[in-house]
Amino acid sequence: MSSADTASTTAASGAFSSPLLRPLSFVQPPRIEFGSGKARLLAELIPDWPERRVLVVADAFNAGRADLLGLPRQNLVFPEAKPEPDLPNLARLLDQARGFAPDLVIGFGGGSAMDLAKLAAVLVGSAKEFHAIAGVDKADPRTVGLIAIPTTSGTGSEVGARALVTDPASRSKVAAESRHMVADMAIVDPDLTVSLPPAVTAATGIDALAHCVEAFTSRRAHPLLDIYAQKGIELVGQYLARAVADGADVEARAGLAMAALYGGFCLGPVNTTAGHALSYPLGTRYGIAHGLANAVIFPHALAFNAPAQPEKTAIIAELMGFDGNRLFDSAYRYCAELGIEMHMSKLGVPPDDLPSMAAEALGIRRLLDFNPRDMTGSDILEIYRAAW
Ligand SMILES: NC(=O)c1ccc[n+]([C@@H]2O[C@H](COP(=O)([O-])OP(=O)(O)OC[C@H]3O[C@@H](n4cnc5c(N)ncnc54)[C@H](O)[C@@H]3O)[C@@H](O)[C@H]2O)c1
Ligand SMILES: [Fe+2]
Repeated sequence: MSSADTASTTAASGAFSSPLLRPLSFVQPPRIEFGSGKARLLAELIPDWPERRVLVVADAFNAGRADLLGLPRQNLVFPEAKPEPDLPNLARLLDQARGFAPDLVIGFGGGSAMDLAKLAAVLVGSAKEFHAIAGVDKADPRTVGLIAIPTTSGTGSEVGARALVTDPASRSKVAAESRHMVADMAIVDPDLTVSLPPAVTAATGIDALAHCVEAFTSRRAHPLLDIYAQKGIELVGQYLARAVADGADVEARAGLAMAALYGGFCLGPVNTTAGHALSYPLGTRYGIAHGLANAVIFPHALAFNAPAQPEKTAIIAELMGFDGNRLFDSAYRYCAELGIEMHMSKLGVPPDDLPSMAAEALGIRRLLDFNPRDMTGSDILEIYRAAW
């Protein structure tokens, strides 16, 4: 084994005497435009805007307001990005994208639209299909520009190098990650999130929180990102309940947009752990939205991991206003009071499926290997039963 191999194995196991000694690669968009009204300024932000051929990848809601971007004459709006996109959804997009031949791709929506846009941007000028770029660093350099404009405050996909699509054959989420999938510019305009209904605001807000909490407590947590994670947690604690109660509270919307951004920074180099691993089968099998699935699992994963990360968990509890002595109850009540349905039984999950879901979650080693506390198949099943 070469010394480089040894170093990466050690890095993966998190076995450094100090987190400061852990190597880290932190890639983010070279330009982030943050603030109210920024999405309407594309003509000022992009050179030669009137001459560009722009492909906008959006969900139906955002496609309906793509005009606010002031699009140039040569444009194609793909309005079919569906929540939790799958391979057929991507195939339809690629077909249209290759026919149109854009020079700039814009992801305009939540994580679903932004992830599809990233994939379109690296695949449109390449003969490769998704399976050839699944995994890490397999995509070819982009031949077109890429801009991410989030309209939810959750995934942080706008600053990340990763995209997830569901493979209907295996019913699992497949991730592709490449520095070529990092946008040239992220435009984070909190005004775009004012229209989010309370339920989506709550669920996507817990997704942002989960990114920060899981990265902060991960075995490969890093001081460079801990600072973002803590700030993200603090912002969710300050603003999520306010934004759910009053969607037009623009200060709360801005706070959450920033929290999602901080969560996104944490995802690339550190990523999530058990909370996300356990939530994936809920999305791929029963179509439960990513944020909602994460929220259902969140208090269980937090409480399970607490003994392995007591100091960091105490910080999380303080930032979120949770009672550290009654951590599970307190985190659970917080989510439920946001109006989130916390019972899997009420979200269409059949009880007989819990064992096979647990087996599936246990196999998501890319996340579970970094959970601060080892989680067995029976631990996972116990959590699923409690959450049911
Ligand atoms: N790339 C990453 O690093 C990363 C990280 C986490 C999650 N994800 C992926 O992101 C996806 C989830 O994204 P999401 O949670 O942002 O939800 P989403 O993009 O699926 O959108 C959820 C719903 O909200 C609607 N919507 C979006 N913005 C709106 C607005 N401003 N007003 C009203 N309605 C609006 C959409 O039409 C959709 O129906 C999943 O596929 C998940 O796997 C990616
Ligand atoms: Fe997430």
